[in-house]
Amino acid sequence: MEVPFVDLSRESELLMTDLIKSTKQVLQSGIYINGPNVKEFERLTAEYFGVEYVISVGNGSDALTFILRTLDLEKGDEIILPANSFIATAWAVIAAGAKPVFCDVGNDMLMDVEDFEKKVGSKTIGVIPVHLTGRVFDVKNIIEICEKRNIQIIEDAAQSFGAFDDEKNKTGSLGLAGAFSLHPLKNLSLYGDGGLITTNNKKLAYKSYLYRNHGLEDRDHAKIWGYNSRLDELQAAFGIIKFAKIEEFTKKYIEIASFYNENLSSYFLKPIIRENFRDVYHNYVVRVPQYKRELIRNFLKSNGVGSAIHYPIPLHLQECSKDLGYRKGDIPNVENFAESMISLPIYPTMKKNELEYVVEIANKAIIEI
Ligand SMILES: Cc1ncc(COP(=O)(O)O)c(C=O)c1O
Repeated sequence: MEVPFVDLSRESELLMTDLIKSTKQVLQSGIYINGPNVKEFERLTAEYFGVEYVISVGNGSDALTFILRTLDLEKGDEIILPANSFIATAWAVIAAGAKPVFCDVGNDMLMDVEDFEKKVGSKTIGVIPVHLTGRVFDVKNIIEICEKRNIQIIEDAAQSFGAFDDEKNKTGSLGLAGAFSLHPLKNLSLYGDGGLITTNNKKLAYKSYLYRNHGLEDRDHAKIWGYNSRLDELQAAFGIIKFAKIEEFTKKYIEIASFYNENLSSYFLKPIIRENFRDVYHNYVVRVPQYKRELIRNFLKSNGVGSAIHYPIPLHLQECSKDLGYRKGDIPNVENFAESMISLPIYPTMKKNELEYVVEIANKAIIEI
């Protein structure tokens, strides 16, 4: 049997009738940018996240960049972020003219609060907790220090659409603002790029509207220098269709993660499933002894099971980070994760027999190798 790491075409097949209907409607409308679908998608998602404003943009990287740019950062200002994120989290800090300061993570792959506190300095303006793999970083753990030091909390919620904390507050509503990616691999995904900014802050929302549209306040007046980074009508129309499925799909992600947790061998270090938080398992990541990792992945591959690593090179060790002055050994837990983790297939259209097969092959791999 072949179980790919991901197969996006299955989902589009499932929704094809609605997708084609919407495509036709948008094409016939003659409105392709900033029309009724964009407004409706923003309205629906704002209600869902329980925030005042959702500003759709071209992608998740721009969502983060625009939020950071509204902080009017100066050269040397620092933004703290975990070193085990996707490169775009750090890029947004650079793009906004500030300096990324990398911090370590705990066993749950989320920012380590103690290390965060150590990294806070006189130049710290903000922190970007990343809800990595769709697991909620409990922002309550850093609120006191952030309030005391006037540090802004900007959530990287790219991987956590639909996740919420133990008070049922959704990611994207836990700090000053949240950034979501709607990239095809995300839990709420489009058929192209897209992103969302979530916030209750009117000024931040206003500036984000400007940034996404050339800095234009109206057709002719540019208030600030801006970008061209808008979600188009077609993608917004797809977003509305996908949004109607988000609860059903989220349940699926959680069911698959639970199945893995119950049935994978205890030789795998597995994520802890929390009852009081809703983690949405954008990725399902296990850890194995470092020396076995490639052997296990090869065994999976030769038996038709796809796997991936999120992410093999920590942000502080990327070539583009070399001027920031980090060395191997500086962020030990993140480095450890990078060498020992494996992401297994998890997507809402996975079939039961595929899931059972992945478990069978993975268990064979860890025991026999
Ligand atoms: C944690 C994280 N942050 C930011 C991004 C950037 O989003 P996008 O690819 O939509 O620009 C991604 C997407 O891959 C991500 O996973």
